[in-house]
Amino acid sequence: MAIRVKTTRRKVFEHDAPLRVVAVLGGRLSEEGQWLNSELDGLLERVIKQTRFKGEFGDSLFIPTEAGQVLVFGLGKRRGHTLDDLRLAGAKVAEAVVERGVREAAVENFFLKRFGKVEATEVLAEGLYLGAYRFNRYKSGVPEPRARFVIAQGFGPAAERAGVVAGGVFLARDLVNEPPNVLNPVELARRAEALARETGLEVNVFGPAKIQELGMGAYWAVAKGSDNEPRFIELVYRPEGEPVRKLALVGKGLTFDTGGYSLKPTPSMTTMKGDMGGAAAVIGAMKAIAALKPPVEVRAYVAAAENMISGHAYRVDDVLKAMNGKTIEVLNTDAEGRLTLADALAYASQAEPDAIVELSTLTGSCVVALGRQIAGLFAADEALGRAVQRAAEAAGEKVWPMPMEPAYKRLLKSEIADIKNVGTREGGAIQAALFLAEFADAPFVHLDIAGPAFAPSEEDHPFGPSGGTGFGVRTLVRWVLDQA
Ligand code: BES
Ligand code: ZN
Ligand code: ZN
Repeated sequence: MAIRVKTTRRKVFEHDAPLRVVAVLGGRLSEEGQWLNSELDGLLERVIKQTRFKGEFGDSLFIPTEAGQVLVFGLGKRRGHTLDDLRLAGAKVAEAVVERGVREAAVENFFLKRFGKVEATEVLAEGLYLGAYRFNRYKSGVPEPRARFVIAQGFGPAAERAGVVAGGVFLARDLVNEPPNVLNPVELARRAEALARETGLEVNVFGPAKIQELGMGAYWAVAKGSDNEPRFIELVYRPEGEPVRKLALVGKGLTFDTGGYSLKPTPSMTTMKGDMGGAAAVIGAMKAIAALKPPVEVRAYVAAAENMISGHAYRVDDVLKAMNGKTIEVLNTDAEGRLTLADALAYASQAEPDAIVELSTLTGSCVVALGRQIAGLFAADEALGRAVQRAAEAAGEKVWPMPMEPAYKRLLKSEIADIKNVGTREGGAIQAALFLAEFADAPFVHLDIAGPAFAPSEEDHPFGPSGGTGFGVRTLVRWVLDQA
């Protein structure tokens, strides 16, 4: 996608562009806006008055002038803005610009004084990228968006960093948005391999034979019902020199989840191409990490599979054996994510990482609890949980801590095996987290991103169009950099 955010040391009015963006803050033109207004002999003030433009947060007023278009952008009240507001403003500006098909826009560095050059530029740039994203690959005659944003009085390296993170988010969104007939497990592995070639990451991919040989009986059971073969994917980032820490990222990679014999009704199945949102997040994060080169080792794992129905599919009542030796009674084939993750977590643990952070579109229960914009954070290790929560806050992604109530473990007791894959309906997201923790042999955090990974409608997602959101990429990148 041809979206670029650059910087210039000049002010908006000094920069020649077909569109220039200045702010109205607390009902008044910003300083930048006033400069431009005087260049235009008071035109901006006159139109603002005539149209009674109030400049509520997110409002746009387009003014054609002899020196190109001007977008007067509302930032709402005078005070109290946060970095999240700035990111959102950037996204809304980008949306307005892309929807109008404008190729280049010079944008005021809205909160330069409030946040300082580095942070103001980075967060604005991030918002511009996130809001400009579109997925038009399957729309005949609709081109991919092309737009160049130039942040006035900006700090170049900060915009570049935002571009790297956005590159990871865009990759994650693309992977989620691809339809499931295109992006099956084999194709997901191909994309990971292509990323490795492009970035110098190491990649290892296993097929059915190796998966069975490794004893990944839970993962294999889920995968074997599909004609599309599973692929176990490992991406490795190694720093130059001795790594100061070894980290593991694990992502749920169901390229489609029909529910299996515990079949989903159609309305619940319609967004299930997004059941690899966790995988997309870890692969997207690895892309950014490869470019940012922190001094830590990072390994990403995806047990990619498709949960389908056939004569080879697993059943309710089956008993499976995961690679750590634990046996699992299947009581619902739609609780498949935790089965694939059991083996992915056990495998990740063998490399003895200092921490495992795992992301999955795991339960409808978590969506009921926290809605569509907030992920559930389940920490088996308290310090790690706090670190991930801090990273999410800094990255502007919403997560909320949920309890790993030990008393609920008994709900997963099986009559016939070591554990069963579902307990009761109540507290379902907690039980799912407790299940996963049985297979992670390292400090462990689970993020249930079933709500925020996929936006069925635009209203569900403030930073871009409906579909894949790339949720988790920014948190993971931030957390990994924090470990350095
Ligand atoms: N992929 C789903 C969870 C999901 C639901 C993701 C809604 C995104 C939006 C998962 O595999 C699933 O079906 N979970 C079941 C678990 C239940 C059978 C214990 C669920 O949440 O209903
Ligand atoms: Zn399912
Ligand atoms: Zn699923």
